Amino acid sequence: MKTFTLPGTDLVVPAIVTGVMRIQEKSDAEVRALFDASLAAGITFFDHADIYGNLPAHGCEARFAEALRLTASQRAEIVLQTKAGIVKDGPYFDFSYDHLVEAVNGSLAALGTDYIDILLLHRPDALVEPEEVARAFDELEAAGKVRHFGVSNHTPAQIHLLKRYVRQPLVANQLQLSITHAPLITQGLAMNMGALDQSVDRTIGTLDFCRLNDITIQAWSPFQAGFFTGPFLGNPEFAELNAVVDRLAAQYGVPPEAIATAWITRHPAQMQVVLGTTNPQRLTAAAQGADVVLSRAEWYELYRAAGHIVP
Ligand SMILES: NC(=O)c1ccc[n+]([C@@H]2O[C@H](COP(=O)([O-])OP(=O)(O)OC[C@H]3O[C@@H](n4cnc5c(N)ncnc54)[C@H](OP(=O)(O)O)[C@@H]3O)[C@@H](O)[C@H]2O)c1
Repeated sequence: MKTFTLPGTDLVVPAIVTGVMRIQEKSDAEVRALFDASLAAGITFFDHADIYGNLPAHGCEARFAEALRLTASQRAEIVLQTKAGIVKDGPYFDFSYDHLVEAVNGSLAALGTDYIDILLLHRPDALVEPEEVARAFDELEAAGKVRHFGVSNHTPAQIHLLKRYVRQPLVANQLQLSITHAPLITQGLAMNMGALDQSVDRTIGTLDFCRLNDITIQAWSPFQAGFFTGPFLGNPEFAELNAVVDRLAAQYGVPPEAIATAWITRHPAQMQVVLGTTNPQRLTAAAQGADVVLSRAEWYELYRAAGHIVP
């Protein structure tokens, strides 16, 4: 597994991460199998959020902890990331001091741990008061409850606003990215072209902003064709893409899932890929992508086969 020191931290992290948004209904044995497969593949990083699961909050965090019952030394060997800032029962967003502190205390209790390695602000709050975020981060850091901080689904200007008040580095921005859902990348190749949807800027330069500021992009939904519309692998709507994926998989001697993750890890921004599968075999397959280095021609062939334009 490709690893690197996450900029802004002392954490050595894997390029592929296990996301546990979908484990609520899984048995103890199934959660353990996913965890064991993760460790066997070199994935020591687990992505949570307070809202994952079927409870108002902390459902999947609690499922993870109850199923695994990690010892203190097992806990110390993994990176636990979670997110706060969404109130599921609204739904609405809440970056107030009270909400962030309460959410983290709930996550600590559910996860059965004394500290969160990385806390992300889950989705931008239109009513954000960055002084409140700064006060919450300072208190959570001083209490030893959170070691590092980041964001998710944030634009460059939203990050600038936070950074004016928050003292800690914002080390990650978790964003939707797959071969088929790639506006983060595709707009930059078609800027200013008339009558071409790809040239519409929906990401406001977020990819380059993150690179310029040592903010690691974490790609969520790496297999989803769109916003939770099902995976593109094996989907006849993406026949041309699947043909290229299958050919490259055979060429590299890896499963197709590995080509999907390799397309993301090949990008020089040094991103992390956040897997959502609950299937240990698929997880093992996807993890192999971190060690496949696609050529430039192969990377662009996948890009074109997904329907994106190279002008
Ligand atoms: N920050 C955010 O706003 C945000 C939003 C969404 C998700 N996330 C994070 O990102 C993680 C991944 O999201 P996701 O679950 O949407 O991502 P994903 O990995 O693209 O999708 C996984 C889903 O696709 C299914 N699937 C079917 N065939 C597959 C195949 N060949 N390979 C892989 N998966 C296949 C999986 O089913 P099986 O389980 O049966 O394999 C699972 O239901 C989440 O767990 C969460 O940690 C973050």
